[in-house]
Amino acid sequence: MNWQAPFYDIGCAILGLGRKFREKTLGYAGLNPGKRVLDVGCGTGVLTRLAAAAVGPSGEVIGIDPSVRMIAIARKKAARLKNGADFRLGIIEQLSFETGYFDVVLSSLMLHHLPPELKRAGLREVYRVLKPGGRLLVVDLDRPGHPVWWLLVWPGLLIPTVAANLRGEIPSYLRRAGFSEVRSAGRWFNLLTFWMADKL
Ligand SMILES: C[S@@+](CC[C@H](N)C(=O)[O-])C[C@H]1O[C@@H](n2cnc3c(N)ncnc32)[C@H](O)[C@@H]1O
Repeated sequence: MNWQAPFYDIGCAILGLGRKFREKTLGYAGLNPGKRVLDVGCGTGVLTRLAAAAVGPSGEVIGIDPSVRMIAIARKKAARLKNGADFRLGIIEQLSFETGYFDVVLSSLMLHHLPPELKRAGLREVYRVLKPGGRLLVVDLDRPGHPVWWLLVWPGLLIPTVAANLRGEIPSYLRRAGFSEVRSAGRWFNLLTFWMADKL
């Protein structure tokens, strides 16, 4: 997504994925001061910076993304705001963190970028780096909740990275990664779902 990086934030706002959407996402994560948070596929780091503000200086927030330009923008914005979020190049399927390190992992709008085998490997890695009692908060494409959406999104069924999302299979991917408590917490425009997956 390197080429999209300079236009990404404005594109999100135009698509109804601006501040309100980010605040709603963060609300489900249940962050408190002192928590350790990982944002996988953080992009330009909008959610990561909000998470850093929520956990305060006693917490730790790290955003990872394989896109050099996304990470460069995320770092620049965090430096300008003197925000404590730390941004690193990285991929979900090979996380360079010790087992049981994080209280919360955020995955916002990124699972639909991964083909099935990377969804499985990435979610297993997320499960590994979470503490027992930790939470994964996912917001992503789901089976559309209104027939009109199908007119627009059906070609996604032909795209391997998106098809599992549109078929409503994300909860089963989460359970297969080890999460025993998986629930849908809410919807966004009948197309995205917020899932909370807890590691017991
Ligand atoms: C649509 S953007 C979402 C960015 C951000 N999470 C948000 O909510 O705005 C998807 C991001 O996932 C990243 N991504 C793609 N493949 C990835 C992988 N294997 N591991 C981690 N991030 C990945 C892309 O580089 C991109 O920045």
